[in-house]
Amino acid sequence: MKLNDKVVLLTGASGGIGSALAGLLVKKGARLALMARNIKRLNGLREDLGGNVIVVAGDVGDESDAEKAVQETIGRFKRLDVLINNAGVAYYGSIERMNMKSFGIMMKTNVHGVINMIQRSLPYLKKTKGMIVNISSVAGRRAIPMLGAYSGSKSMVDAISDALRVEVMGYGIKVLNFCPPEVDTGFAKNAFKESGVDFEAQKGIRRIMTLKPGRVAGMIAKGIEKEKREVVAMKSVQPVNYLMPGVLDRLFYQFIMKPYWNRYS
Ligand SMILES: NC(=O)c1ccc[n+]([C@@H]2O[C@H](COP(=O)([O-])OP(=O)(O)OC[C@H]3O[C@@H](n4cnc5c(N)ncnc54)[C@H](OP(=O)(O)O)[C@@H]3O)[C@@H](O)[C@H]2O)c1
Repeated sequence: MKLNDKVVLLTGASGGIGSALAGLLVKKGARLALMARNIKRLNGLREDLGGNVIVVAGDVGDESDAEKAVQETIGRFKRLDVLINNAGVAYYGSIERMNMKSFGIMMKTNVHGVINMIQRSLPYLKKTKGMIVNISSVAGRRAIPMLGAYSGSKSMVDAISDALRVEVMGYGIKVLNFCPPEVDTGFAKNAFKESGVDFEAQKGIRRIMTLKPGRVAGMIAKGIEKEKREVVAMKSVQPVNYLMPGVLDRLFYQFIMKPYWNRYS
């Protein structure tokens, strides 16, 4: 799919991967509807980007906000070619001490939000034989300790993408599931966290595997242009987890759980 002149509805555009992707899509000539809750940041981004861009304030987990985002996109551009479900939030903490209220908000954003946006967009994507892009995570392929519930929410996104891809095949709609590794954004800062735990202390080992948001935006745009069904940015995760899951258990124990226990138990 060529992105020039295409109408793209992008959620989670007010920061991180979403803002970088918005910039790249404008350069490629796409027309954009950007959604997030922080309208001030969205307005600032629109001013920086120029181009053919509208912004919509809303929570992807809220059905009426999702409907509003789609209707404002159609109202302005009269069509929708690509929906990118990028909005997401993490919960850093153990299953044992998980705060269930924060867990609920995370699930509402990462899972309900994805389905909400898909349901509202489908009537228009059917007309254009467009594309749905779900931003998942490599954590959905191999759960990471202290990110267990978040990993589970992304496994659900993977499953939704796989089922949806076949369900909408007959309409001519494509589905791309994109799984980034750790990306250098405000993601960890914006996450729900177990109280009193300093997750920055665990960053050392992960820093070598961290990508810049601009690089990830480029990979997503390429995946759309090539109409890929799936892109897993850190491909080695799946075979290593399949062949040697116990080795990963021990590595995670050594580098994530031991420092946690040493500090907090
Ligand atoms: N960074 C990583 O290491 C990493 C790794 C793998 C996967 N991912 C995935 O990549 C996506 C983007 O993450 P990021 O790194 O760019 O994180 P980020 O910098 O925290 O940005 C998250 C974006 O989602 C929006 N958002 C959060 N909750 C929302 C809600 N309920 N409704 C609407 N928008 C909401 C935020 O804007 P508002 O606060 O203004 O609403 C923000 O624009 C997420 O799905 C994340 O799970 C990230």
